[in-house]
Amino acid sequence: MLSGKRIVLGVTGGIAAYKAVFLLREFQKAGAEVRVTMTPSATRFVGLETFASLSQHEVAVEIFPDDTQSTDWTRHINWGEWADLFVIAPCTANTLSKIASGISDNMLTSTVLAARSPILICPTMDGEMYESPTVTENLKKVQEFGYHVLEPASGFLASGLEGKGRLPEFEDILDKASEIIGSIEGPLKGKKVVVTAGPTREFIDPVRFISNPSSGKMGFAMAEAAKRLGAEVKLVHGPVSVPKPEGIHTTSITSAAELFETVKTHADADVIIMAAAVSDFTPSKTYSHKVKKESGSSSIELSKTTDILAWLGENKKSDQVLIGFAMETEDLIKNAAKKLSKKNADWIIANSISTEGAGFEVDTNHVHLISKDSETEFSGTKQEVAELILGKIFRK
Ligand code: CTP
Repeated sequence: MLSGKRIVLGVTGGIAAYKAVFLLREFQKAGAEVRVTMTPSATRFVGLETFASLSQHEVAVEIFPDDTQSTDWTRHINWGEWADLFVIAPCTANTLSKIASGISDNMLTSTVLAARSPILICPTMDGEMYESPTVTENLKKVQEFGYHVLEPASGFLASGLEGKGRLPEFEDILDKASEIIGSIEGPLKGKKVVVTAGPTREFIDPVRFISNPSSGKMGFAMAEAAKRLGAEVKLVHGPVSVPKPEGIHTTSITSAAELFETVKTHADADVIIMAAAVSDFTPSKTYSHKVKKESGSSSIELSKTTDILAWLGENKKSDQVLIGFAMETEDLIKNAAKKLSKKNADWIIANSISTEGAGFEVDTNHVHLISKDSETEFSGTKQEVAELILGKIFRK
């Protein structure tokens, strides 16, 4: 998501300024081009030359150029236009308060006013300062202006105290930056995407059910990837123990019948991704009491559940994109291609539980993305695979 993007990194005068050096590196590793603006007090923590040599660009501190012969009086305007995203990390209470009041007394704060791009603020300070009423008020204000704020992490602080105020992990900052950039320019911007995930449970009696080992991880990764591409995502999931993705509307269901009812209410979505491992059968009779082994029969009569993907395929609205999964143990491509045409899906993501690092419960996957005229293989973490799949389908 950050590949080829232009980031202005604003560094202010807190001890976490040294971490901004590594953050710059992480942005570059993700493929972004980075320019750095520092407040004068940030230069007391890290030398200008460090950022200049890593970013391979001049570092701007004051609005006025250092070279008195220079006519480049409008750097803040130029940088504000150049950036796809302006990330201020760390952001001290002082700079936060200037931003909240529109003060523009240095290159960083002036660029905030000039920026056409979204702005991400990572407030970083001592725990007591972070909890202070003025900081709370200023954070509220800047969010009302439409700037994004990533809350600080908790832990050991430079003061020797424990509390909330640390610069978040780089991964979290990059995730947030990707989410912001993705939601602005994503190919799914303005689109409604429904993702189903996890297993279903078909109860035999109050203490027994038929299910499968689906963890929901792949479906959750698909939902997050769709969100990063700018979609308005609704996630419908069965019983799972993995944490729910942040910032995504979720509905939990238990049985295949409940899943069907919920999906039907969203059947007009622009994109539907059926990642749920739906039980194909349900007991014909569900007992309201626990069946005792002495009185119970040794066989259970089952009835077929509705094939939700096939139903969606039959009732597909024009321009809707229908994506299904196929979990196979043999003849992966052949069986997946059959499901594609039989269920009238546009894409099938096929994976084989016999492949190492693929299938239920693991964090990685190896899939074949199949349409009626293409087949592409992807592997990596479930998050990476989800991004690659949606990138292939929706990025032109
Ligand atoms: N699916 C569904 N409703 C069902 C069963 C499956 O919507 N009752 C969807 C799954 O969410 C998945 C796709 O159909 O997107 C394929 O699921 P899979 O279990 O691989 O195949 P089945 O159609 O159930 O066929 P089989 O079990 O015979 O391989």
